[in-house]
Amino acid sequence: MIRLENLTKIYSTGVVGRRGIVAVDSVSFKIKIGEIVSLVGESGSGKTTIGKLILRLIKPTSGKIYFLDREISSYKPLEYYRNVQGVFQDPFSSFNPIYKVDRIFENVNRYLLNLPRSEFWGKVEESLKSVGLNPRDVLGKYPHQMSGGQLQRTLIARALVIGAKFLVADEIISMLDASTRVDVLNILGDLRDSIGLGILFVTHDLSLGYYISDTTVIMYRGSVVEMGDTEKVFKNPVHPYTKMLLEAVPTFKKKWEPSKEMFKIESGSLIFRGGCKYYSRCPFRRDVCKEFDGNLSEVEENHWAACALFGR
Ligand SMILES: Nc1ncnc2c1ncn2[C@@H]1O[C@H](COP(=O)(O)OP(=O)(O)O)[C@@H](O)[C@H]1O
Ligand SMILES: [Mg+2]
Repeated sequence: MIRLENLTKIYSTGVVGRRGIVAVDSVSFKIKIGEIVSLVGESGSGKTTIGKLILRLIKPTSGKIYFLDREISSYKPLEYYRNVQGVFQDPFSSFNPIYKVDRIFENVNRYLLNLPRSEFWGKVEESLKSVGLNPRDVLGKYPHQMSGGQLQRTLIARALVIGAKFLVADEIISMLDASTRVDVLNILGDLRDSIGLGILFVTHDLSLGYYISDTTVIMYRGSVVEMGDTEKVFKNPVHPYTKMLLEAVPTFKKKWEPSKEMFKIESGSLIFRGGCKYYSRCPFRRDVCKEFDGNLSEVEENHWAACALFGR
């Protein structure tokens, strides 16, 4: 459904834009119809940038994104946004506090759908119900009268009213309280199963990725270090970064022992250009890692990792 091919985004910074930040570095993966892919990595690893590129909010420096085998830039905006929608971390920022919540739906009909009023509002009510909301708790209300969880669900319902086939969900539950989080996660799972919604679930929380996704993509400093079937990545992690992340999640504790020094070895002398990006933090680093090209190799069916030491 969505395919990223050697996607790269370099932000220019500084007054004359001479310095570049490589936010996304030649990333390739795909998301099938009715599949949830979680994009996992610590803050600054390039997850949101990938989401913004898919939503055409920014342009890639190089590389391509395809939606249903057509490059996304070839779609007219309305055609594209009827299919591909995003929900973000802070639901309050998606609503204008001076208008009733109804307005986000009114705009959908005005700009995207142009349906007769009764048909349209019927659709809105149906979509609100499908995300577990009572339309009476939403329509006619102001954003401040609703909880973060209700607003996030309302935004998911909006994407459903539009008829979106693909959703970028960027840290959508990190601002919600624990009980609501699971509900919103389950709603995403239900939509995948019932209407075949494809979802890119962006999260810095590995356990959420495990709970919800079919496929997991682990990013480190703009690059994919490991990806594949969620079960395989979690049960048989290969990359030292993935192992370290898993070690940090108590429920996934394994025999593998992280050394305390792992978190401290980021020192200037160990940072160099080229080679494995994880070199300076890696407890297993060796000289071959300095020559590593960063390419993924197949660990097993539907499981890849980018580690110079894999298979050695
Ligand atoms: N608009 C921007 N201008 C310059 N640098 C940016 C911009 N947006 C993000 N970055 C940088 O790009 C990198 C990746 O950021 P981001 O995609 O937001 O990561 P994540 O969502 O994983 O935290 C970071 O180093 C961040 O500082
Ligand atoms: Mg982010």
